[in-house]
Amino acid sequence: MAEESQKWVLMVTAQTPTNIAVIKYWGKRDETLILPVNDSISVTLDPEHLCTTTTVSVSPAFDQDRMWLNGKEISLSGGRFQSCLREIRSRATDVHDKEKGIKITKKDWEKLNVHIASYNNFPTAAGLASSAAGFACLVFALSKLMNANEDHSQLSAIARRGSGSACRSLYGGFVKWIMGKDEKGTDSLAVQLADEKHWDELVIVIAVVSSQQKETSSTTGMRDTVETSLLLQHRAKEVVPKRILKMEEAIKNRDFASFAQLACTDSNQFHAVCLDTCPPIFYMNDTSHRQASFLNLIISLVEKWNRAAGTPQVAYTFDAGPNAVLIARNRETAALLVQKLLFCFPPKSDADLNSFVLGDKSILKDAGVESLEAIESLPAPPEIKDPSQRHRGDVSYFICTRPGRGPVVLSDESQFLLNPETGLPK
Ligand code: DP6
Repeated sequence: MAEESQKWVLMVTAQTPTNIAVIKYWGKRDETLILPVNDSISVTLDPEHLCTTTTVSVSPAFDQDRMWLNGKEISLSGGRFQSCLREIRSRATDVHDKEKGIKITKKDWEKLNVHIASYNNFPTAAGLASSAAGFACLVFALSKLMNANEDHSQLSAIARRGSGSACRSLYGGFVKWIMGKDEKGTDSLAVQLADEKHWDELVIVIAVVSSQQKETSSTTGMRDTVETSLLLQHRAKEVVPKRILKMEEAIKNRDFASFAQLACTDSNQFHAVCLDTCPPIFYMNDTSHRQASFLNLIISLVEKWNRAAGTPQVAYTFDAGPNAVLIARNRETAALLVQKLLFCFPPKSDADLNSFVLGDKSILKDAGVESLEAIESLPAPPEIKDPSQRHRGDVSYFICTRPGRGPVVLSDESQFLLNPETGLPK
């Protein structure tokens, strides 16, 4: 370690995307190691619209590991953080920063403490897999800081220990989490099926629902499912393995019809498995909730549209929360989709269109809706039974995005979340 001064601070900042599963992960065969009961496949979302930025730093002046999430200090004592920190520390190697005159040996890392600051460019409470991007970013940034020479697949197995779905955020494009066979989980990791350029026509629209509801957490929900659902056993053993092969083919051939059919069916089966759990988990089916009617309306709209068109135009998928993720086959379809969605779920009258549609706003221009007045005069979609009923205010906002790249290191100091002198939040 550079002895001349105890004041030095070394840091790395990284940015990592979030991902949405099109073949779902639900159920663990090992809770501590986070080993799943089946493979899963996801699409990485463009980090320009949804991502986590994390700065990690090390200094002999730090007396303990500390972390700040969106500016607020959080505890690192949880088992999942500890697993990630321990695993990545054990892979640390010598670091020599000639410019700063800092030398850290492999052995030093055991004693050195780190400061971590993480920020999501989307509301954490929106339930958009913030833990996936978060743990992926933590592990990726620490691996760079500690010079852990592991490839992204090896890093994904460490991120998996933070949150299962996090392992798929180590790659851009289309990603498979291979469940693996090893008891210790060494072969349970993510691989890239295709990068984001492979199928860049796809447009992804996320409807974020206004909901005060506290959802059942994925971790608790899937524990109950594993303990009680026979349908899950059938799904994991008989259904998913075949579906994974078909989904890989669909992605390889950019076969949207097959992709959409598989994604929708798998999302529906995931929710069927939730309902087959004792006590049942109602992510979508509780008719006493306003959000349930929102989800049902979206499903019926997409199903009717796809049937009328003769071939799928849009795929839907829903995770363990009330938001809807819609994947359109191309921009033209996405513009139509946005029209239909804005008709059904217009903003409250005092809303600002700029904060109602986030992400790639150019879709609004394609859809010909560039003002609140334009939303009011949209034609009723033919799929809607009762066009007089518009569900005003049920959607908090939409995010338009696309398949995106994997983790990157950021070199622009203005994006660092920790002060380079003190290692404390800026
Ligand atoms: C429904 O990765 O959040 O989003 O491993 O317990 O942290 P833990 O669960 P998590 O579960 C995600 C479940 C899902 C489907 C998916 O992303 O594949």
